[in-house]
Amino acid sequence: MASVLSPGKLRLGVNIDHVATIRNARGGDHPDPVRAAEMVAGAGGDGITAHLREDRRHIRDDDIARIRAATNLPLNLEMAATEEMVGIALRHKPHAACIVPEKREERTTEGGLDAAGQFDRLAPLVARLGDAGIRVSLFIEPDARQVEAAMKLKAPVVEFHTGEYANLSGEERAAELKRIADMAALAAKNGIEPHAGHGLTYENVVPVAAIPQIAELNIGHYLIGEAIFTGLEASIRRMRELMDSAR
Ligand code: PXP
Repeated sequence: MASVLSPGKLRLGVNIDHVATIRNARGGDHPDPVRAAEMVAGAGGDGITAHLREDRRHIRDDDIARIRAATNLPLNLEMAATEEMVGIALRHKPHAACIVPEKREERTTEGGLDAAGQFDRLAPLVARLGDAGIRVSLFIEPDARQVEAAMKLKAPVVEFHTGEYANLSGEERAAELKRIADMAALAAKNGIEPHAGHGLTYENVVPVAAIPQIAELNIGHYLIGEAIFTGLEASIRRMRELMDSAR
């Protein structure tokens, strides 16, 4: 697969899960998340992100191969740390695998992965994915203990959960932003590439995009929601402009 990663630039990974959510509401084939994936590059996105959940409420197994066939953009497969998901990742060999905590009853990924607490369980899994040439990313809270665990796990990437930042306002949001910035600096200083995502919108993206060490943002729900009103290409393009304005 040709990679179109451009080092140095803040990359936008477009999470297409909620196109699949709408498709699945009727159990048919429309709207097809593959069609969304095909539109991402033309609108200024740099990668496709998709979460294969245990209950398949977003993308389904067959979507993975279809997405890969439809676009040259790198695929970041979000997945729980289970044998089933590792097997699927090893079969499809996406560009990256982002390990997320997953609870069946949650509406979305509510918190970061406890990489420190689950170190022994994660270590062999991260190694197997890495040995297969898959870039492992750990979706963690901006917390030094979690960054240190990612270092020990030799994860090349961490993605900081920005959900808390997105939910807060005023001084509390500023404090959470500082936590993300400090942890991005700590990760980068230790050779880990920091990413960020969850709950990012036109209103809150710029301060996160301005953190110089952050190399990639993964954004889904808001882009797909805005696409209802403006179209997907326009929503991605606007997000891209805001991200670029921060650098
Ligand atoms: N990054 C990760 C690891 C996620 O789990 C999600 C949600 O699936 C996102 C980014 C995107 O979050 P949102 O859909 O809120 O933009």
